[in-house]
Amino acid sequence: GRYMNKYAVIGNPVDHSLSPTIQAQFAKQIGLSMSYEKILAPLDGFTVVVKNFVSSGALGFNITVPFKVEAYDLIDDCTLNAKTAGAVNTIKVENDTLYGENTDGIGLVNDLCNNLQQSIKGKDILILGAGGATQGILLPLLECQPERILVANRTKAKSLKLASNYSEYGKVCGFGLDQIKAKPVDIIINATSASLDGKMPEIPSGVAAGALCYDLMYGRQTPFMQWARENSALEVTDGLGMLVEQAASAFAFWHGITPETKEVIKSLRETID
Ligand code: ATR
Repeated sequence: GRYMNKYAVIGNPVDHSLSPTIQAQFAKQIGLSMSYEKILAPLDGFTVVVKNFVSSGALGFNITVPFKVEAYDLIDDCTLNAKTAGAVNTIKVENDTLYGENTDGIGLVNDLCNNLQQSIKGKDILILGAGGATQGILLPLLECQPERILVANRTKAKSLKLASNYSEYGKVCGFGLDQIKAKPVDIIINATSASLDGKMPEIPSGVAAGALCYDLMYGRQTPFMQWARENSALEVTDGLGMLVEQAASAFAFWHGITPETKEVIKSLRETID
């Protein structure tokens, strides 16, 4: 019989994940027959769910909130990128071992560079938030050689620690949100979870003037995007492109072929707006 290429995304919640739709479109592009399901893991049952899925013959899976760090603790080996982030969103199963990668950062970089035609080299970047989302994107951004990255967080100690962990890879400094000056930067990335509560991190409005303002969230207008528009941002975008690009990198990690993303982004944009 035909061997089934078995994949999934594991998370909690996972019901609204667009990953199955995206992966199905990629598979179709290259005529690959693949199953990709959504698996809801109990908050205290991630490991068991992974073990069962792997023993059922799975070849790989994505990991989403809140299991990316737990997944890192579970893998046998991983890329430098995943190791630096201490979190994985993509796992490949090879001879019963789990090999991990984190495609979030490269997904963001590819969206910025290829879809939004933005070069990162020499740019001043401000990242809001110092949690898991920031951890996932810092190394790939630093590898593009920005002038510097400012990481500003409500809890200042967290951004200081994060910045010092990445200092060997480029110029990155940690601050408190209250220390941000009104001086404009080139790119502002909202990597906080404030939008989930309908909130906007409190920073001076002058920083947005002429900047590309990027919210890692997708699917709706966030308070950050609204704020950016009201404060003369040059361009304002959500994270839908990053979502598709991180999925494309995961697909390439599994199948060795990088899929086309432009049409996929366009079709998703039409369904969610
Ligand atoms: P994620 O994995 O999405 O990054 P996280 O690790 O819980 O989630 O981190 C959430 C980030 O959003 C943190 O940087 C948090 O700031 P604190 O470290 O001070 O908690 C930030 N955050 C959440 N709500 C916020 C708000 N209303 N204003 C500013 N920052 C906020």
